[in-house]
Amino acid sequence: MCSSLINDISRVLYSEEDIKQAVIKIAKEIENDYQGKNVLLIGLLKGAAPFLCDLARNINLNLSIDFMTASSYYNGTETTGTVTITKDISTKVEDKHIIIIDDVADSGVTLNYLVEYLKAKNPLSVKTCALLDKPHRRTVEFNVDYFGMIAPNHFVVGYGMDYQEKYRQLPYIGILKETVYS
Ligand code: IMP
Ligand code: MG
Repeated sequence: MCSSLINDISRVLYSEEDIKQAVIKIAKEIENDYQGKNVLLIGLLKGAAPFLCDLARNINLNLSIDFMTASSYYNGTETTGTVTITKDISTKVEDKHIIIIDDVADSGVTLNYLVEYLKAKNPLSVKTCALLDKPHRRTVEFNVDYFGMIAPNHFVVGYGMDYQEKYRQLPYIGILKETVYS
C-alpha cells in the first residue's frame, strides 16, 4: 500500500476484521428478512462499491445488482442538501425488493431522496443499508434499515470512502489527520 496514504491516517477506526464481521452480520439479517424474495441491491457509486461486493458475496438469496451515481453536493466535507442523479439503474424493478446500499449515512439527504425516487418506479419495496451510520449528523428525519456500525463524528476514509477522491483503496476505515485538510 502506498505509504503516503497510510501516513495521512491518524487512527484506524475499523479494521479489516471489524468490517468483515459487520458485513456478515448485515448479510445474515438481509438473508433472514428476504427469504424466497427477489432482491435488487443498488450500490451508490463510487463509495459503496467495495461494501456492495463483499455484502453480495455473503448473501445466499436470489440477488440482482445495479448501481447509481447520486451526488449530494459537498463543499469540503459538509452536504449542501441538493441531490442530483448522474447515473440511473437499468434493471426493471416491478418484481423486485430494492435495498439501496451506501458506504455511510451522514446527513441522510442522499438516501432519503433516493428512497422516494426509487419508490416512484413501483418496486415491491425499498429499504436502505449503510455500513456506517452517523445518526447525530442528520439534517432530515431518516432511519437506515440495515447498518454495520454507528460511527463517531469524524470524517472517515477507506473501504470505498474518499477525501478528494483519495484513500478509497484502503482496506480499513480510518480517520484522516487534520493536517490533510489544512
Ligand atoms: P448524506 O447525504 O449526507 O447522508 O451523504 C452521504 C454521502 O456523503 C456518502 O455516500 C459519502 O459519499 C459522503 N460522506 C459522508 N460522510 C463521509 C465520511 O465521513 N467520509 C467520506 N464520505 C462521507
Ligand atoms: Mg457516497
